[in-house]
Amino acid sequence: MRIILIGYGVVGQSLTQIFTQRRAELIKNYGFHPRVVAIVDRRGAAVNPKGLNLEKTLSLKAERNTVAAHHERGHPGMSALNVIENVDAETIVEATPTNIKDGEPGLSHIKTALKTGKHVVTTNKGPLALALPVLTELANYNKAYLKFSGTVGGGTPVLDLAKRCLMGDRILSIRGILNGTTNYILTEMDGRHITFEEALNNAQKLGYAEANPSMDVDGLDAACKLVIMANWIMNKRVTLKDVSIQGIRNVTLQALKEAAKRDCTIKLIGSINEKLKVAPTEISKQDPLCVGGVLNAVTFVSEFAGEETIVGRGAGGMETASAILRDLLDIKQNLATRLMS
Ligand code: HSE
Repeated sequence: MRIILIGYGVVGQSLTQIFTQRRAELIKNYGFHPRVVAIVDRRGAAVNPKGLNLEKTLSLKAERNTVAAHHERGHPGMSALNVIENVDAETIVEATPTNIKDGEPGLSHIKTALKTGKHVVTTNKGPLALALPVLTELANYNKAYLKFSGTVGGGTPVLDLAKRCLMGDRILSIRGILNGTTNYILTEMDGRHITFEEALNNAQKLGYAEANPSMDVDGLDAACKLVIMANWIMNKRVTLKDVSIQGIRNVTLQALKEAAKRDCTIKLIGSINEKLKVAPTEISKQDPLCVGGVLNAVTFVSEFAGEETIVGRGAGGMETASAILRDLLDIKQNLATRLMS
């Protein structure tokens, strides 16, 4: 499979590391030959229709901070759209950072790829939270696959559990801790009795929270993930504006202490019932959702199987890259089935 990789940050680099480490196994076990024909980062692109040497692109990124510095294959200043439109490939992996104002540049990358008949695997929540119903239609119209396992739960197969493992059953409601950074902050506040500001400071020092932590602490990241689940798992045609969102800035130590007296704590819970909501919520410490640190946890309530909870790490380069790999293998297997039918 020829792949164009857009975005060569932690996730993109982790994916190419997995390809270099697992090449023989991917071929032997899955008949999957990933050939990365182009990589685009902020400063340009490297292109080789025969497949780039990924050890080389990793070392260029580490030493020169751009793949465009490749002396034979580098194209400084070449844009992602130019590459998507002009380089032949079956699939693009879109791993640029999330922007929830207008979804760009990821939204244009995804639309252009789908319009040119390329399959898309993305970890970018912005375009999906703003336009998933439209993007799904565009993918169907162009007979292309649009996959996004890594957008919810990092490497933890949250979407697949509901969509695939519970296939045939009907998901009635979803409740979950969908953001690791806020879970870390609330766990620290509750366990070590430190203030929100101190816990946020620690989260930033440990690299969990960004310098601008708004996406996490104001509940926006969790809301994006909720929109993706509502569309994909429950067939609701919703976008970010349909979610009622409250972050954790106003959670006090006093409120956590009061909750503890009832053997409860406060977590940032995203829920889908009749409405979509993200808000700090008191839950029992015995609830399977009550996980600590940076973990994510999601409980699905389905008509026949009842309650199922999945727990795992919701972020990280290798974790998220493992979700991209699952999506690529899935596309490969679907294409093989298409050919046989
Ligand atoms: N910032 C997110 C979190 C990770 O803390 O869970 C990416 O979704």
